[in-house]
Amino acid sequence: MQRRKIIIDTDPGQDDAAAIMLAFASPDELEVLGLCAVAGNVPLSYTSRNLRIVCELCGKPDAPVYEGALKPTHRPQVTAEHVHGRSGLDGVALPEPVMMVREKHAVDFIIETLRNEPAGTVTLCTLGPLTNVALALQKAPDIASRVRELVMMGGGFFEGGNITPAAEFNIYVDPEAAKIVFASGMPIVMMPLDVTHQLLTTKARVAKIAALGTHPAKVLVDWLAFFERFDIEKYGSDGGPLHDPTVIAYLLKPELFSGRECNVEIETQSELTVGMTVVDWWRVSGRKPNATVMREVDADGFFALLTERVGRL
Ligand code: BDR
Ligand code: CA
Repeated sequence: MQRRKIIIDTDPGQDDAAAIMLAFASPDELEVLGLCAVAGNVPLSYTSRNLRIVCELCGKPDAPVYEGALKPTHRPQVTAEHVHGRSGLDGVALPEPVMMVREKHAVDFIIETLRNEPAGTVTLCTLGPLTNVALALQKAPDIASRVRELVMMGGGFFEGGNITPAAEFNIYVDPEAAKIVFASGMPIVMMPLDVTHQLLTTKARVAKIAALGTHPAKVLVDWLAFFERFDIEKYGSDGGPLHDPTVIAYLLKPELFSGRECNVEIETQSELTVGMTVVDWWRVSGRKPNATVMREVDADGFFALLTERVGRL
């Protein structure tokens, strides 16, 4: 497999951290060109700090980290401390990061990278609200045709929403940004709640990660224990859903996932359903497909991949 060049745009977040760990543990397949922090689960100052903590945990203190948008494009910020804790990465005490962020703004990093690398070679991996990518598209519309693929965790359709009955958090936080991205013409792969709700961090699966016995594995187990407590209560399940690593797992093993190309529009007006991803699964609208929407995942295969890779860190 040829190495894929990727940019990770993220709001860590324990599940973002798991995704970043999976990416750094897979250097044969993935070349991480840079990581961008965006305001999301918690304010930007925390997501930037958390991102650097994760890089250092993965032994990547030289990874280029950029700070992006401080708030959504059109709305006041909504955060999710009730899920992720006050810092966004509660669950285990880790040293404050030593590494610094790069001076360049994340939006400019995204634009320059897409312009400098050969067209069709850079994949955008988004694990949070789409604010940075939308701002980049507004500033430099030419980048849309240069992206190889944008693989995102966001949205939900058959499963409904998780922050409101209709909306998934990443889209709800900045629906106008999502609208810009889905209208951009970039090839999009969407990992909605329909997929991530099949990926429960059951005791048996987490025990396998714990059995690796390494420091990064232990930290991940502590993060997952904190992260799942909210969802266990909400869903009454054995473990909570693991969202963001689906994006990286797709790059490594696309055969774990199945879905179909369809049209996705974003609701930005209705007070009741703002942030909803309106997926035309049955192709009844006549609107042109603009995304591959995943619906099924091989859950055991996914956790086997995650566990094996985390063991390499
Ligand atoms: C998404 O929202 C965040 O809380 C998670 O990190 C994930 O990206 C799930 O709705
Ligand atoms: Ca996230």
